[in-house]
Amino acid sequence: MPTTHAEDRAVLSDHGLALDAGTPETWTALAADVLRGLTAEEKHLPPKWFYDAHGSALFDEICQQPEYYPTRAETALLEAQGAEIAAAFPARELVELGSGSSTKTPLLLAPLRAAGRLERYVQVDVSASAMAAAERRLTEAFPGLTVERRILDFTTQLAHLGRAPQGGRMVALLGSTIGNLEPVEVQAFLEQLRAQLGPDDTLLLGTDLVKAKADLVAAYNDAAGVTAQFNRNVLRVLNRELDADFNIHAFDHEAIWNPDLERIETRLRARGAQQARVRSLSLDVSFRDGEAIFTEISRKFRRETVAELYAAAGFELSGWFETNGVYALSLARPV
Ligand code: SAH
Ligand code: TRP
Repeated sequence: MPTTHAEDRAVLSDHGLALDAGTPETWTALAADVLRGLTAEEKHLPPKWFYDAHGSALFDEICQQPEYYPTRAETALLEAQGAEIAAAFPARELVELGSGSSTKTPLLLAPLRAAGRLERYVQVDVSASAMAAAERRLTEAFPGLTVERRILDFTTQLAHLGRAPQGGRMVALLGSTIGNLEPVEVQAFLEQLRAQLGPDDTLLLGTDLVKAKADLVAAYNDAAGVTAQFNRNVLRVLNRELDADFNIHAFDHEAIWNPDLERIETRLRARGAQQARVRSLSLDVSFRDGEAIFTEISRKFRRETVAELYAAAGFELSGWFETNGVYALSLARPV
């Protein structure tokens, strides 16, 4: 007998996974995404399901690979420009979307603290396991700072955040996570965010930039194979959460540069024709030899494209900090 939804969830909270929020809504969202994505002509899965406890740990490992430059570039930028960013916007509250393990956050909290007004840090992620450790670490490192944790999907549930009572809120989205959204999703996300922000609030956004193809491709094809494991992990999540039987090792990791859309595309490619059963959904999925599941996009940006995204959603670019063509942080104000 397939395990039931309720039994799954009992196990879930121990695993602390993407569904580690453990709500029926989360499970339903996963089920809907899998049903839609794996019955489509071009099979695809949305990226947020990568990040169960194991996936979040693998992501932190990706960040340490020599080929994966975005984390180092963003860290260096925060170190060099943090004080200027905090001076430009001495926030009372920092809300970080997709905060993960908040590794880089101290580089923002320290200058904001020094700027004198910061009272609260709110981490927002779908992965509770990723956030758990950060809460204690940051409370210890910044005595007197209130640290809160919100488990929600920032693409659909931003309204749950509520407005900052007194304004002075900085919303940060780092790690070029915005690049993992389709353009329509970016537009919808920025519009929702805009609706949440008052005139005294601001957005701090990390964006990876268009650069030489070899550097881009290497960052998503690290020699140690950590990104490959991360990519395959989404099938592990399906096996556990939806009682599926994907043969994880029969799928090859692929990351290619799409020059027209200026994005890295990652796929899982079936090695040999095969079948998988998703028991919780009574769904059989068959793959031709070499057939792909589209798992992720990672868009690369230019200053002009970032400014256009802001303008289209009612923001204006108010600060741009860049490490020569590699990576950029920008500030946007509601207009
Ligand atoms: N900010 C960190 C982590 C980036 S990884 C860094 O820069 O290193 C992306 C993070 O965003 C993961 O922790 C993932 O769980 C989270 N995430 C992805 N999609 C999300 C969504 N729709 N809503 C909330 N969190 C999301
Ligand atoms: N936001 C990160 C990025 O686009 C996420 C990421 C890093 C990622 N490596 C990955 C997503 C590999 C999928 C596959 O760089």
